[in-house]
This record gives sequence, C-alpha cells and structure tokens, in this order.
Amino acid sequence: MFEENRKQFIKSLNGCPAIIIGGQQIIRNGDVHYDFRQSSNFYYLTGFGSPNSIAVFLPKSSNSFVMFTEFRDSNKALWDGPSLKPKAIQKIYGADAIFDISQFSSKIKSLIKNEKVIYANKNQLLPENKNIRNLLNNINLNNIKILDPSSLLTELRTYKSKKEIHYLEQAASITSKALLKAAQSMQSGMNEFQLQAIYEGESKFLGAKRQGFPPIIASGANACTLHYTANNAKIKNGDLILFDVGAEHEYYTADISRTIPISGKFTKPQAQIYQIVLNAQNKAIDFAIPGNTLGDVHLAAVSEIYNGLKKLKIIKKHYKDIFKQYRVVKKFFPHATSHWLGLDVHDDGSYSKIKNETILQPGMVITVEPGLYFQKKSGVDKKFQGIGIRIEDDILITKTGSKNLSAQFPREINEIEKILQK
Ligand code: GLY
Ligand code: MN
Ligand code: MN
Repeated sequence: MFEENRKQFIKSLNGCPAIIIGGQQIIRNGDVHYDFRQSSNFYYLTGFGSPNSIAVFLPKSSNSFVMFTEFRDSNKALWDGPSLKPKAIQKIYGADAIFDISQFSSKIKSLIKNEKVIYANKNQLLPENKNIRNLLNNINLNNIKILDPSSLLTELRTYKSKKEIHYLEQAASITSKALLKAAQSMQSGMNEFQLQAIYEGESKFLGAKRQGFPPIIASGANACTLHYTANNAKIKNGDLILFDVGAEHEYYTADISRTIPISGKFTKPQAQIYQIVLNAQNKAIDFAIPGNTLGDVHLAAVSEIYNGLKKLKIIKKHYKDIFKQYRVVKKFFPHATSHWLGLDVHDDGSYSKIKNETILQPGMVITVEPGLYFQKKSGVDKKFQGIGIRIEDDILITKTGSKNLSAQFPREINEIEKILQK
C-alpha cells in the first residue's frame, strides 16, 4: 500500500524532489513525552511510525526514497528499547537509503544541490528546530524555490484504495461493538466519563490502539455543545446520550454518532426530533453519490430538517427557496453535514465552498452527520429544550451509489430500543 502511495506521489512531483517531515515527540515534563502519533502525510508515504524522521523523495534518482530517522545507542536503548537496524528499516519499509537524523543537514546538500525547485512544508520544524528555508540558507542553497506539497497529497488521499477502505470498515466495526457495550451498560446516575471508560476500554480490547479524536459523551443538554469533550456530568433519568466516537485501526479512524435514551425508550418529543434527524440523514445519504458534491449532500439534509421543523411548528414561516431554508435551520443545525474521512477524522480533502467544489467519485469516503440542537432558552417549545441529537455514519462513494461502512450499529428508533432491552 505504501509503495503504491509513494509511486503515485513521486509521479505527481514532476521530477522535483520532496522533503516530507515526520511528527516530533513533544515533551510533557522531564523525560516524559505526550503520546506520539506519526503525522498522517508521513505515514501515508512511508508506513513508518517512529518520531523525528524525515523522508526525501528523489524522482530522478534510482534511489528515489531516502529516509532519516533516530537510531538509539546502547545507553538510550537501555531505557527505551532498541531501534530497528538500518538494514531492517530498508527491508521492511522499502527505503533505498537510510541515515541517522543527525546527518540530515549534511546529506541533504548533496541530494538536492543541483535542483531549482523542491517540495517541502515551509512551516514544519525539522528536529533541530529550524525550518527548511533556514536550513537551505545555512547550507548555501538560498536559490532553491520551495513549493507546498500538501495539495498533491490531498489529491491522492481523497481516493481510498481497497486496503484503506478495509481499514476504515474495521475501525467502524470496532467502534460499533465498543459503542454497543457502552450503550448496554448505561444507567442513570452514572457519570459520562464512566461510559467513556467502557467505550474506550472495549475499543482498545478489540485492538484499536488509539481513538481518532477525543470521544464526545454528552448527556442531556450537553449534547447541544457540538464539540463537548468534558465528559464529566452525572447522567440523569430521561436523558439522551449523544456519543460521537471513532476508534483508530491501522491509523484509519471511524467517526460515528448515535444518540440513545438512558431509560431505553425515547420520550415522544425526543422521538419526534430524532426521526427528523434520521430522515435528513437518509435523504443526505441518498445524495452521497458520484457526480454530486458535499454541498448537494448538505442541502438534501437541510431540506428534510426544514420540512420536519415546519411540521412540528418549530419553524412557522414558509420558505420555498432552499438557501432561505438553509439560513433558517442554521440556528438549530449549525454545522456541515459532511467531511472527508480517512487517516484523519477531518481528513485531507478540499473543503472549498460553491466554486470548484470537489465532485464525489468512487473511492471517496465522507461522513453524513446531520443534527438538531435546542439549547435551553432557545425559544422553542419547552418540551424540545435541552434536546441535542446527531446521527453520523461513514459513507463510501461507490460506482453505483454508496456503501455505509458503519451500518453495523442500528439507527431506527425501534431497533435502538430493542438493543437497549438486552
Ligand atoms: N467527531 C467530530 C466530527 O464529527 O466531525
Ligand atoms: Mn463525529
Ligand atoms: Mn464527523
């Protein structure tokens, strides 16, 4: 998979070299570090997970993939374990040449000295805390022009290969199973973080090393805070719990939201709002097909939400124009319906609006996640206040339409009530 990614990337460079800097370990205090995760672009091209590494791609050379990384001496190995030997890295990761990171400045000079243009991220720091421009100036390569490689990587990462789709499906499956365990353990009086512990523990038990983003476990009106991550409130009887979670499998993350009643049964007002969001999600998924855009998917959700709110008389005025409907529902549905999904939860991909919007094509993966949020004091009928509902699935665009990668966890009201009876 990584060899193929590199091949495509090198083809897109038009003969220019590229320097891709990996993620750096960040010190928390003393000799303790924050959890490290390789940067997604570096991982995409190398599959190599160690910090403080740099990959250099040389399209014109027969040694087109050169890697720099940190090798631990015996003293460091005593504390942190041995690092792979250069030969093993070459064999496992397919690098044509491999050097210690401390040799980067001296080696890079000979690798790119006759070049006029290179690709590199100007803002990213090298392990010695310099950026690429400073480094090139220091080694008298002031005339080399530096182009940003990110749009080349965006183009590649937007299309998922069979293997990437498999990893996303696995991530969704682990997330669904762990979510089911948390949902079936719910009791009023518990704290949100206890549900988080059950969800995260189970997802790790099932093999997910990390979460793709901090879990959102929001009970009652906390669900009206879109990126609620405090997860520190006592759950009350009658609350809905909004779970927005995604386990990471082989660096690919799921992103699933389900909103579930603690008591095992939706109240009438909760069910009324839930059904509107579900109808909007179904309609939006129908629009997630080749040829449409994320904008089309969003407007499909908007029109369904508008119709639902109109029926419940939460919106009283009649608007025929979809853009007027969009403006009026924004108060209760303030976020976009979709984003790209892959190595990152808000994955690389173009988010340009209206003009030049990306046309959906087979192999792209997006979320479809409409929601409705009625803050307390939002002016709606009291019975709807404090209700926050989001339903989110991970949708692969296929030749003939789409496939829901996260369909394992049910969405229908009666199905959800049924699994809660167990
Ligand atoms: N979990 C963040 C999002 O759904 O976009
Ligand atoms: Mn989400
Ligand atoms: Mn999402």
